[in-house]
Amino acid sequence: ASGEHVPVLVIGTGYGGSVAALRLAQAGVDVHMIEMGMAWDTPGSDGKIFCSTLNPDQRSYWLRTKTKQPLNYFLGFPIDRDISRYTGILDAEEFSGITVYQGRGVGGGSLVNGGMAVTPKRENFSFVLPSVNPDEMYDTYYPRANAGLGVGLIDSAWFESASAYQYSRVGRKHAGRSGFPWGFVPNVYDWDYMKQEQAGTATKSALAGEILYGNNYGKKSLQKTYIAQAKATGRVTISPLHRVTSVAPAAGGGYTVSIDQLNTNGDVTNVKTVLADRVFFAAGSVGTSKLLVKLKATGVLPLLNDEVGKGWGDNGNVMCGRANWLWDPTGSLQSTIPCSGIDNWTAGGAFAEVAPLPVGIETFASFYLSITKNPNRAQFSWNAATGKVDLNWQTAWKQPGIDMAKTIFDKINAKEGTIYRTDLFGVYKIWGDHLTYHPLGGAVLNKATDNYGRLAGYPGLYVIDGSLIPGNTSVNPFVTITALAERNIEKIIATDL
Ligand code: FDA
Repeated sequence: ASGEHVPVLVIGTGYGGSVAALRLAQAGVDVHMIEMGMAWDTPGSDGKIFCSTLNPDQRSYWLRTKTKQPLNYFLGFPIDRDISRYTGILDAEEFSGITVYQGRGVGGGSLVNGGMAVTPKRENFSFVLPSVNPDEMYDTYYPRANAGLGVGLIDSAWFESASAYQYSRVGRKHAGRSGFPWGFVPNVYDWDYMKQEQAGTATKSALAGEILYGNNYGKKSLQKTYIAQAKATGRVTISPLHRVTSVAPAAGGGYTVSIDQLNTNGDVTNVKTVLADRVFFAAGSVGTSKLLVKLKATGVLPLLNDEVGKGWGDNGNVMCGRANWLWDPTGSLQSTIPCSGIDNWTAGGAFAEVAPLPVGIETFASFYLSITKNPNRAQFSWNAATGKVDLNWQTAWKQPGIDMAKTIFDKINAKEGTIYRTDLFGVYKIWGDHLTYHPLGGAVLNKATDNYGRLAGYPGLYVIDGSLIPGNTSVNPFVTITALAERNIEKIIATDL
């Protein structure tokens, strides 16, 4: 309620925010979480909470009147469709040179992501988080994060027979024939449930095209793990459809947090202020960076240092498809949950997930999301004329990532005598280079904050999400975001409370 005084306010309910809320509550602290998206706990008129990628409705996109599908063409035709404006689950946030996809709702990115739960190779860790001691991460915090998230591996014997993973087996064959290491990638999906979907004994979710707009069954999103545990402490309150707009030092100590309450059209229906002793920024790389850059530039938090807004990267994301010969079908039934990847990080700077193309028909296509060592970093800045925060990423900055991905797929194409698909991102366009799923950085650890996420200049303000990570994790990011949050909150509870 407006005028309330809370010990801890957490902005956002993704990985960083959920870890902070659970551990603070377990330490006996009352926590209030503010989430701009919906609760996603009530079925719609079709009896389901989430809609499928095969039939997107208003639940799919955050405040759009037309879908903005990451794979926006098929057989050279645009496939986006009209929807009604609604506080849907996936935000395709457009900056001048890149579209950044993010989850909106209680659970943040865990609602919409592929669930791939990958711990970086230890030899790459100094590149991922140079100021963090790898021993403590690999001995304590990565295991803690993997346990908390419910990470598991596919049954390798079952994999060989599952028709829904034919596309992965083709991916393995082609990687192997070109001499690239291929391996299983852990996931938070319930693999026993997946087996039942394939056997036809459970309602299908991953096998019914559910992913980008939420999974109704099977996926262990944060709602089922960290957030469920946090709620069970009785100390955590969550306010969905509330968006933080300002955090300002209060005269008597603590911080005044300004909050807009939204309706499902995205209109502001109420404005509230809350006094908080401590505030954790967990609005994601983009959300946290936008707030901090604005608050510094507009003189609300002038003591924030000049690193705020810097060091943003796309985790080197690029997508592409390959056209297979007729003897290499990838299957008309494809699980939306990927289970394998091709590793050419050391030699070529690319780690490629063998991704599904779950369109319900045989496409003879192999599809990949590559994470590359693209060195380009962008910066957020306040635009006083528009009253918005800009990001200076340019589309051409994807080129190093494309070149790295090509170290894998040019070789596979040469070996197989195949070509790239040119019909998935436009007309005669090979590379999906207009987007990222993995925004990272903007309030980098040990630069914008100290080595545990404390913001320079303001005791009681913390950053605890993907904005701490300097732009790249060498693999999919959420396990690292979770593990870093576990490390930082343990230190903060021990020393600051
Ligand atoms: P996260 O973005 O999860 O949470 C931030 C929350 O804050 C959101 O719920 C947002 O609505 C809220 N918020 C923002 N501003 C606010 C404000 N002003 N007031 C109130 N609330 C606010 N990663 C991975 O490891 N494996 C994978 O398979 C995938 N796949 C994947 C697919 C797709 C389609 C996407 C979009 C992303 C992925 N990811 C992924 C990325 C992963 O989901 C992402 O890195 C994490 O969710 C980031 O976690 P954070 O805690 O930083 O923020």
